[in-house]
Amino acid sequence: MVDLQKFQKHVKSKSPAFIPVFKNKSRYQIVWGGAGSGKSHIIARKLLYRMLNESHVKHNFLIIRKVDRTIKKSVWTLMKNIISIWGLTSQFHMNQTDRTMIWKENGAQFMFSGLDDVEKLKSIEGVTSIWVEEATELLQEDFEQLDLRLRGEFGCVKQIILTLNPISEQHWIKRIFFDDPIQGVFTLKTTYLDNAFIDDEYKMVMDNKKKSNPRYYNIYALGNWGTAEGLIFNNVEQRLIRQDELTGLDSVQGLDFGYTNDPSAFNQTFIDVKNKKIFINDGFYEKGLSNNAISSKIKDLELHRHMTTADSSEPKSIDAIKAKGVRIQGAQKGKDSINSGIDFLSDYEIILNAHLVEFMTEFNNYSWAIDKKTNKTTNKPVDDFNHFIDSLRYATEKYHAKRRGGRLNID
Ligand SMILES: Nc1ncnc2c1ncn2[C@@H]1O[C@H](COP(=O)(O)OP(=O)(O)OP(=O)(O)O)[C@@H](O)[C@H]1O
Ligand SMILES: [Mg+2]
Repeated sequence: MVDLQKFQKHVKSKSPAFIPVFKNKSRYQIVWGGAGSGKSHIIARKLLYRMLNESHVKHNFLIIRKVDRTIKKSVWTLMKNIISIWGLTSQFHMNQTDRTMIWKENGAQFMFSGLDDVEKLKSIEGVTSIWVEEATELLQEDFEQLDLRLRGEFGCVKQIILTLNPISEQHWIKRIFFDDPIQGVFTLKTTYLDNAFIDDEYKMVMDNKKKSNPRYYNIYALGNWGTAEGLIFNNVEQRLIRQDELTGLDSVQGLDFGYTNDPSAFNQTFIDVKNKKIFINDGFYEKGLSNNAISSKIKDLELHRHMTTADSSEPKSIDAIKAKGVRIQGAQKGKDSINSGIDFLSDYEIILNAHLVEFMTEFNNYSWAIDKKTNKTTNKPVDDFNHFIDSLRYATEKYHAKRRGGRLNID
């Protein structure tokens, strides 16, 4: 059995900024701030602590992310590691298929689910508390649905914990928990400076951002709400796209290559030229994908018979993917292609399908570089948060290439 008092002492000495997270009993606990402050680690530990400390309750902790595919590499692995660090692995029954970790002692469990796994969510009963990781990925209606699930009397505090970075001051989370808060809200802000476990190198990386990407620095280092200032796209709405909205529209597809450090990003997009609307319907975004894996993913989406326009700097990859039976061509690029792509996209209303969470992160961060001398915004984008966005530029290239007098008809 772990020594819970020792853990309390550990929090007091190593993570004093997070003590209120353990003491507070509000229904809504908003743990927000900069990147790398220790939010996820502390909340995972808090849930485990509660499970062990409140052993008279058969806890059902629901651990949520917007999309299921992001669970395994984030919250699942984190909780598994912490259980192991606490020397409790043999006390838990871990079922990766069901996404549950059951404490053999009293049957209490952690249940992991993406909000897109509707059937699974429906079957879950008797939830005693909820943790939503990267909560800005959720739409307000997602949160409201979850909120209704946490009901009943279990002899313990019922709490919904949201962990998040303050990506945009326009976000509904700011509205309902900060500006005009609903009842029962507790908020705690931390930054990497509150994290005793962060190394000097990370501090240096953050510090460098002050110059290279001040907008990023403001949100992820200082933990301040992101403003629209300097943001390239302010014309994006994320919501569920109904398939009947797409009927009769021209569809295009784009692919940006990455591997170790960057993800490969693919999108399928529909264009309504008359009403100036772009619907980004589907896609994938993942590191470490081989050309074979990219081909399979495009086939899984049943989009291999439609033309994909890809980053032309990787002709070898394009050939390899083509050899797998996927229709694909290199983007034309050329002078000013980035800016004319941005001009084109800025002119449209962009509607982003709800499950493409990484895409929204890019839209919320893709920004104009600041001139270091004058401190003014330039017309050059910062080369960051642009994988999905580049793939969208390639996808729509025939529309803006036309403007530049380039290839007219690429299909
Ligand atoms: N209690 C802890 N014990 C050991 N290491 C920790 C602890 N808390 C945080 N860390 C270290 O600090 C790093 C950042 O912590 P964490 O991922 O929890 O930050 P975060 O605030 O959730 O960041 P983000 O906003 O990017 O999601 C972790 O990768 C881990 O190495
Ligand atoms: Mg985190």
